[in-house]
Amino acid sequence: MSNIDKINSRTIFGIISHPDAGKTTLTEKLLLHGGAIREAGTVKARRNAKFATSDWMEIEKQRGISVTSSVMQFEYKGKVISIMDTPGHNDFGEDTYRILTSVDSAVMVIDGAKGIEAQTRKLFAVCSMRGIPVFTFINKLDRETRDAFELVEELENVLGLPSVPVTWPIGSGLNFQGVYDLLRNEVILYKAGQPSKTLKLSDDGVFDPLLEDYIAGYNLETLRDEIELIQGAGNEFDLDAIAHGKLSPVFFGSALADFGVTSFLDHFLDMAPPPGPRKTTDGYVYPTDEEFSGFIFKIQANMNPAHRDRLAFFRICSGTFQRGMTVTLSRTGKQMKLSQATELMANEKENIDTAIAGDIIGIYDTGNYQIGDTLTTCKQPLFFEPLPTFPPELFCLVTPKNTMKAKHFQKGVDQLAQEGAIQVYRNEYNEVVIGAVGQLQFEVFEYRLKNEYNSDIRMDRLDFSVARWVETDDLEAVKDTLDSRSMLVFDHFQRPIILFANQFTLNYYMERHSDIRLCEALDVNSTLG
Ligand code: G4P
Repeated sequence: MSNIDKINSRTIFGIISHPDAGKTTLTEKLLLHGGAIREAGTVKARRNAKFATSDWMEIEKQRGISVTSSVMQFEYKGKVISIMDTPGHNDFGEDTYRILTSVDSAVMVIDGAKGIEAQTRKLFAVCSMRGIPVFTFINKLDRETRDAFELVEELENVLGLPSVPVTWPIGSGLNFQGVYDLLRNEVILYKAGQPSKTLKLSDDGVFDPLLEDYIAGYNLETLRDEIELIQGAGNEFDLDAIAHGKLSPVFFGSALADFGVTSFLDHFLDMAPPPGPRKTTDGYVYPTDEEFSGFIFKIQANMNPAHRDRLAFFRICSGTFQRGMTVTLSRTGKQMKLSQATELMANEKENIDTAIAGDIIGIYDTGNYQIGDTLTTCKQPLFFEPLPTFPPELFCLVTPKNTMKAKHFQKGVDQLAQEGAIQVYRNEYNEVVIGAVGQLQFEVFEYRLKNEYNSDIRMDRLDFSVARWVETDDLEAVKDTLDSRSMLVFDHFQRPIILFANQFTLNYYMERHSDIRLCEALDVNSTLG
């Protein structure tokens, strides 16, 4: 197989959903079809096993949630597919957001009874910002669900995402009888607890009389009406629009019953884009470029408490990784030898010798890397489109309980900030203020400081919920505008940020100080001014 064929046979997708929509169940079924796992239940079991080996994940166990994310790779019909599993809990949105910068496409799992929920909306916003193609899997059709049209309309009305059904449900819940595949013109029949059966239809499509032998009258009548409507007035199927994230192919099924999953996977692989070019600060890097390049989108510390190692999750954008190769870290210009890298497959790590564009590898790190770092063999420094920073909504003032251990505290804070586990700011008095998207990040922060850095901390919750970066040349003038419902802090790059009590305080501030430019999110690597 030529290198281009190898690259084109790869695809990386992120799987996103609101907690409980069925993301884990669908992932498991996909892995099962890919032969990556032998028994359903293994993904959950893996999570449990991981809890046992990693101390700080004790929190996950106690709370019964999944905080970390991982990569799973499997082969199916000649393709090498990597699934980026994302943390399910609302509190870990930020990590999830970043993971989405490394994928070629995303699969959005929606609970058919609930439709689009809060977290789906947030995650979709990131995909949309980056033009990532989104495939929609509407799940739990074996239960009573909302009207299929209503669900599809919601994609457009709530997310602003036009969609095109690829499969369409025939009934739901107790009356669920299967799906019609509009592209293949076939019906896949569902019967609880039995293997599915496929009916190839004539050119009459859903009007093929054959269906009358299999599908209840009321379901068939509805199906015929609905398909006529979709084919007459629905969006045109347009691969180019799909590839640019402007049209979402929609599938219906039941992950639990493993129904509609293979047809989803087959179509997905036909439509999902292979690794594409990546934007850099001065042009594009193409997967087929000779020079090796890629970026770090996640750093996980202390995956094994016995070793205190850190693993940098690295997406290869071009060239070939060779074990032992020397690359340049663009941020510092330093030469780095990549002597140990690992494949990240279902958490079973094996050292690898080579990897190509479209692969995600784990690089062992002794504290050299930061999220967003580029590694390359190019002579010139190379910077990819920066990863977005999301404004935190919760803030705490953090101080070490034992001032004699200020060094441990400092080291822990710096490392956890580097890892992207939390946003760290300083106020004017050089005190540490941390910001998070959710409460659980604070708990993990406190736990890790204590367990990994031997530092007990005091956390005082600050009554702010909105952060805005300030563009100004005159910081003193900005300070004069602040009162008890706002606070000035500085981020990692010394950029000033004002924290506001709430949206109302922010609006009021903007009305009174329309000359001060505030912005909501900044790219990690960009600086103001
Ligand atoms: P998540 O990763 O998106 O959070 O969801 P997960 O797959 O863990 O699924 C959440 C719950 O929904 C699970 O039930 C799961 O069995 C159920 N589920 C997933 N897909 C389907 C489906 O297609 N149909 C039906 N009826 N249920 C589905 P649970 O009782 O919370 O957990 P468990 O006891 O099964 O582990």
